[in-house]
Amino acid sequence: LDNGLGQTPPMGWNSWNHYTCDINETVILSNAKAMEEAGLLELGYNYIVMDDCWSKRERDPETGEIVPDPEKFPHGIESMIEEIHNMGFKFGMYSSAGKYTCAGYPGSLDHEEIDAKKFADWKIDYLKYDNCFNQGRSGTPLISYKRYEAMSEALNKTGRPIFYALCQWGEDQVWNWASTVANSWRITGDIYDSFNRYDIRCPCETYDCPSLQGYHCSIMNIVNKAAPLVQKTGPNSGWSDMDMLEIGNGGMTYDEYITHFTMWAVLKSPIFLGNDVSNMTPDHLELVSNPDVIAVHQDVSAPANRMWKKPFGDGYVHLFSGSLSNGDWVVAVINEANVPLVEMSILFSDIFIDNRDNTKFVWNIKDLWTKETTTAARHLTADVAPHGTQVWRLQKATHNSYNYYWVGH
Ligand code: GLA
Repeated sequence: LDNGLGQTPPMGWNSWNHYTCDINETVILSNAKAMEEAGLLELGYNYIVMDDCWSKRERDPETGEIVPDPEKFPHGIESMIEEIHNMGFKFGMYSSAGKYTCAGYPGSLDHEEIDAKKFADWKIDYLKYDNCFNQGRSGTPLISYKRYEAMSEALNKTGRPIFYALCQWGEDQVWNWASTVANSWRITGDIYDSFNRYDIRCPCETYDCPSLQGYHCSIMNIVNKAAPLVQKTGPNSGWSDMDMLEIGNGGMTYDEYITHFTMWAVLKSPIFLGNDVSNMTPDHLELVSNPDVIAVHQDVSAPANRMWKKPFGDGYVHLFSGSLSNGDWVVAVINEANVPLVEMSILFSDIFIDNRDNTKFVWNIKDLWTKETTTAARHLTADVAPHGTQVWRLQKATHNSYNYYWVGH
């Protein structure tokens, strides 16, 4: 969507994964404060998004407007948003392209204009727009498109720049039409704080299968879903939303969270922390603060491509590679198996499939987690913990590898 927003995927915090409906002014403000104090705002996490359950159960019978719950927001929603703006954040709001939101509060279907106007009066900067209770107005791309287009136009009419995030769970091939109305679009059912449990319900890994609300998707379910969709995304179209992060919510190991964070960055999903930021462990804070990984995520370029996925141990190894705006490359290797991956050779000819010339060069490489730097010719050597991900940034060295080998001999 050409509204001047989303050249790179947004970053911030969202209340849902940790708090679900248990939100109020204190929860939202204390997390914003914690984000600021932890240095996360400065690193680019500049959206605070309040998810479902913020309003009263009924619209105002006289004005027809949605009313913020006065018990949860005793000082009013506007004053809270103002406080968040004063801290330097942008503010994100939530509604649904349905009669109700997923938790049963008033949704904006057929109330697009009145709600958009109110949201703009409150000075919101982002709208997450869900898909529950859509009155059967889904099932074909066109029918779904109409529902989401209505809010897109209503937001546009307000004149306020508002990042528009569809939460349609990948139904009706949302990736084929969302970029004309929205800045980002969810591609799966809800994330589940698990690496690759296959007993949870996410029958949505392949390109075209339906992805329904209530389905729980592991990290690897979502990565597998996102990989073939990267060509539908980029700085001039918008972003596949792989859902809010689970880092810090307790369901995964440190290495699994490394995979979670790295792949959300490399595949350029919006990155919204979904934990209680004021109670974050130092290692999780450090993880989501990695400036090198954030620089890849915020580079103005398309996401990396999956070059291959091969059986390994009791799982798979996945290779991703992508070019960055200054000519550098990013390469990531996921080890989905329960055994360590030791010294696997990753060929330049696999990394640079469409850029054969690059294979001839020596590259300066930096491991973005260990921070080790070295040079490489013809291949990289991957060493990856079970369920972990190794990621490098490659910068072309001045000499080519024929030279390098000649000098070496
Ligand atoms: C849906 C969305 C979630 C969250 C909840 C709120 O399930 O996919 O991300 O917003 O609704 O009820």
